[in-house]
Formats: sequence, C-alpha cells, structure tokens
Amino acid sequence: MKFRHVASMAFWMALTTACTSQQQSVSPELSLKDAVGDQFLIGVALNTRQTAAGDSLSQNLVKRHFTAIVPENCMKMEEIHPEEDRYDFSKADELVNFGISNGLVVTGHCLIWHSQLAPWFCVDKDGKPVSAEVLKERMKEHIYTVVKRYKGKIRGWDVVNEAIIEDGSYRKSPFYEILGEEFIPLAFQYAHEADPDAELYYNDYGMDIEGRRNGVVKLIRTLKERGLRIDAVGMQGHMGMDHPDINEFEKSMMAFAAEGVKVMITEWDMSALPTVKQGANIADTLAYQAALNPYTESLPDSVSKVWNTRMKQFFQLFEKHADVITRVTAWGLTDNDSWKNDFPIKGRTDYPLLFDRNYQPKPFVKELMEEASAEQPVK
Ligand code: G3I
Repeated sequence: MKFRHVASMAFWMALTTACTSQQQSVSPELSLKDAVGDQFLIGVALNTRQTAAGDSLSQNLVKRHFTAIVPENCMKMEEIHPEEDRYDFSKADELVNFGISNGLVVTGHCLIWHSQLAPWFCVDKDGKPVSAEVLKERMKEHIYTVVKRYKGKIRGWDVVNEAIIEDGSYRKSPFYEILGEEFIPLAFQYAHEADPDAELYYNDYGMDIEGRRNGVVKLIRTLKERGLRIDAVGMQGHMGMDHPDINEFEKSMMAFAAEGVKVMITEWDMSALPTVKQGANIADTLAYQAALNPYTESLPDSVSKVWNTRMKQFFQLFEKHADVITRVTAWGLTDNDSWKNDFPIKGRTDYPLLFDRNYQPKPFVKELMEEASAEQPVK
C-alpha cells in the first residue's frame, strides 16, 4: 500500500512539474482576465475537487485567468438540501470561501430546478405530490436558508433553471404540475426577500431557439409586471460545431436586452465531437458508439482550427455587445473537467473548453491574450 502511495505521489509531482513548466510556454504576464478587461466578468464553473485544498494547478489557473466562479453542482438541491431537515453546506462554503478570499465574483447555481432535485422536495411521505401550500412553504424555506447564508458573499443567483421548453411553453416539471406558472414569480419573490441586494437571474439552454426566446421574453415581462426583480437572463451557451446559428443567438441576446435585463453567457462550452443531441437536458442520453467518439487521442488540427475559429466568432459577438453582456462563464476549467465527456454519451473524449488537458489555453484564447497585450501602450 505504502509503495503505491509513494508511486502515485511521484506521478502527481511529475504532472505538476510538467504542467507548471508547460504553463511557462504562455508568457507569464498574459491573462485572459486582462484581455477581457472591464467589458464583462470572465467566469468558470468549478467542481468540489478544484475548490478543496490541494488542487493548486486548478486554483492557480482560476486566479490567473478568471474574475468569477460558479459551482458546477454543490449548490444544487440534491447536494445542499438532501433531506427535509438536513442541509450540507460543506462544499458550497468551500467554494464561496475560495471565491471571496481570491476576490472572485461568486454566482449561486441554482435554487429551483427540476433536475438534481432533492427526491423528497415535491412529494409527501407516500411519494405523492405535495399540495401547493406545502410546496410553497418548502420553496420559501429552501431559498431563504440558502440565500441568507451567503448574503453579501454571492452577488447573484440562478433563481430558476430551465423552466421553458423549445416551443416557449412551460416544462411540465413537478413545480409546474403543482403550482402552475406561479412557481417562477414565487421563487424570484422569495429570493429577493431573502437578500434584497442580490441580483436575480433566469437561466436556460437552447436560448437561440425562437420558441424558447419568445417564452423567456414573456416570462421577463410577467416578472416585471409583477414588480419582481430580475436583473439578467442566463443564456447557457452549450454549443456544438453546427449549433447554434450565431445570428439566431444574437437575435435572442438582443430580444432579452430589449426587455431591460442584462444578458449572461452562463455555461459556455462547444463540443468538438459529432452532434448527436442538441440542448442540455440531462435526461437526453445515448448509448456509447465508437464512431461518435472519433478523437480519443487528440483533436485533429483541421477540427481544432474550425473549433477555435467558431469559438472566437462567438467571443467577438460577446465583445460586440459588451454593453448588455455582464458575464461570460465557461462550464468547466479544462477539457478533462467537462460534463461533455459524459453527455449525451458516457465515456467520450471531448475538447469543449478554454483550457486543454494540460491546463494550456486553447489557440483562440492565446490569440485573445496576445492581441490584447499588443494593444497595451508600451510601458
Ligand atoms: O455526486 C455523485 C457521486 O456521489 C456518484 O458517485 C457519481 C456516480 O455517477 O455521481 C455523482 O453525481 C453526478 C453529479 O454531476 C456530480 O458530479 C451525477 O451523476 C451527474 O449526472 C451530475 O452531472 C451534472 C449535471 O449538470 C446533472 O444535471 C454535471 O456535472 C453538470 O455539469 C451539469 O450542469 C448542468 C447545469 O447545472 C444546468 N445546465 C445544464 C448543465 C448540463 O446538464
């Protein structure tokens, strides 16, 4: 046992040295956050390994290149409120403390979502749907407890996640089945009561799709007509090599901004693999097929060039609308951390993020940093 431990320690030390020395290949004074400047926050979703003590590789990369963080999973109901009378804030506290102690803007993700829902939340002891009154009480208690805990530490919350489907109608989630459309205004009301200073967001995927765009516009209007606070809409930005159409994406950005809210790109990634399913509905999974996992060793230069060009086009779109975009967040730090390696097909090797498996910036990120550095006045 001891030998294996020593061997694995030697491996990790070698990897750290290798990555650290490789990190030198990008001139040390360049950073993505400097390239972005004050256009908008540049953020990253982090998992609990990365925010626990010890992952200095990840933490150093985050501190060097990003100005914002968001928890990938640890604040979701099934993790933070697993039983009716039990909360587990341990991982969420670790992430928030990492953010605060490093001057990073922290976003809370997410308060009300049909997925990763605590199994007890919408049902009674016999597994039957609870009454509207009971669900309202449970939502209020959950949102008050979680939001109040991080008052003054978390700038804004994904209050409701993925409640509108492609045709603009409401997803038939347990929240909708029990409370109807009312569950969304209630969630925003409770979040504002819990922390009047917090920004409040509605977050969804596939926001380039016209039906969903129109449904979200209607939702923004409803919340505003009710005098409820909504600061921004989160366009998740889970992309592929063939979707979304950048013009449709821009149309949605403009449609939301026209309603008087800001726009955030909240979960940006771009799969470099063959598209098998559009959207990010975690329930849409498929069995493994080798043909759909073509780049197990590395990404061919031809594919990498197309991917980097497409990513840079979207980043330039965000910069074009920096007056309405307040945050761009990558949904993971390095390609190895991405949920896309296991969705919609488990066990693939994808290349969807801004940093590669060696913690190196992708070519388009290097270009952004070098272009920004070249524009700096000579000191
Ligand atoms: O925590 C358990 C662990 O105990 C268990 O051993 C392991 C075995 O499978 O599963 C672990 O839970 C996994 C969880 O991530 C935490 O790692 C779940 O299986 C896995 O399904 C879950 O996936 C997350 C997914 O949301 C679930 O819906 C992804 O990491 C996360 O990136 C993804 O993020 C969502 C956003 O929150 C909302 N927008 C869509 C996006 C993609 O679905």
